[in-house]
Amino acid sequence: MATTASQQHRSLLSTDDLTDAELRAVIDRGTEYSAGRAGRTPALAGDIVGVYFRMTSTRTRTAFSAGALRLGAQIIAYGPDDLQINTGESVEDTGRVFARMVDVIVARTGRPQRELAAWAGTGGLSVVNAMTAEEHPTQALTDLTTLKGRFGQVEGLRVVYVGEGNNTAAALALTLPRFPGVEFELRTPPGFGLTEEIRARAEEHARTSGASFVERHDMDALPRDTDVFYTTRWQTTGTSKPDPHWRDVFAPFQVTSGLWEHSPKAVFMHDLPAHRGDEVTADVLDGPMSIALDQAENKMHSAMAVLEWCRGGESSA
Ligand code: CP
Repeated sequence: MATTASQQHRSLLSTDDLTDAELRAVIDRGTEYSAGRAGRTPALAGDIVGVYFRMTSTRTRTAFSAGALRLGAQIIAYGPDDLQINTGESVEDTGRVFARMVDVIVARTGRPQRELAAWAGTGGLSVVNAMTAEEHPTQALTDLTTLKGRFGQVEGLRVVYVGEGNNTAAALALTLPRFPGVEFELRTPPGFGLTEEIRARAEEHARTSGASFVERHDMDALPRDTDVFYTTRWQTTGTSKPDPHWRDVFAPFQVTSGLWEHSPKAVFMHDLPAHRGDEVTADVLDGPMSIALDQAENKMHSAMAVLEWCRGGESSA
């Protein structure tokens, strides 16, 4: 599609694609939308946004569809059976065709992240990673938007993530340590932690900003006066666990009200969907400490900020 000075084609495959200033601008903009301070702007008027989900989604697909419509774009929705990729057309050719016809593709393909990079590399097309096995960047942006709205700032927060070192954990590990003073601790079951590559990138962010980043594989000596406990579903979308005894390994990592003994003011976050009785007990997920539904709503507000950034609008720092 033709590009004007004010209509760029940036792609968000990882939060590492955002400079520190852009990361803060996207979060600030999402917070403005969430608080009702941004008004409704036609930032994507005339744009066509392809929304391609080969895997199940309630929040991310709805958020980007509703967000694009609210910004004045029109959308084309593709389900898992719709594209010729299924009949053998190459990922690269698919991307080249998209680049000739649409402005933005929001994609959850269930395929390696490098394939989205091939689409982004075509030029003339913004690509948004709506979740890969490696990272879930729009989830972390949603979560930081929620934290900013709740606490006024991300800097200095003490956040404890409990559960699998999955794509949401990876996205949090790549964003929270970019904020000075953040203390981010993951408690992941042995054998189900972050990848070495993500851990190294998170540690580098923490070194650069002065944040603290720790991963452990037990539930002993949790930090006191935690601001946030965060967990995710034990069966991450699109994955399965070959070890038949995996539940035994995960059981000690269930989030229960006992975690609040030394952190009475902590909020509870969950990217959803949830399985009550697995990763979290119902009294926590449905209790007063839970802000999981605020997170879910913020996915749309954050999606609008991401789409604006892609096209060179308000969130572009
Ligand atoms: N959290 C999240 O990505 O939800 P969906 O899978 O419903 O999009």
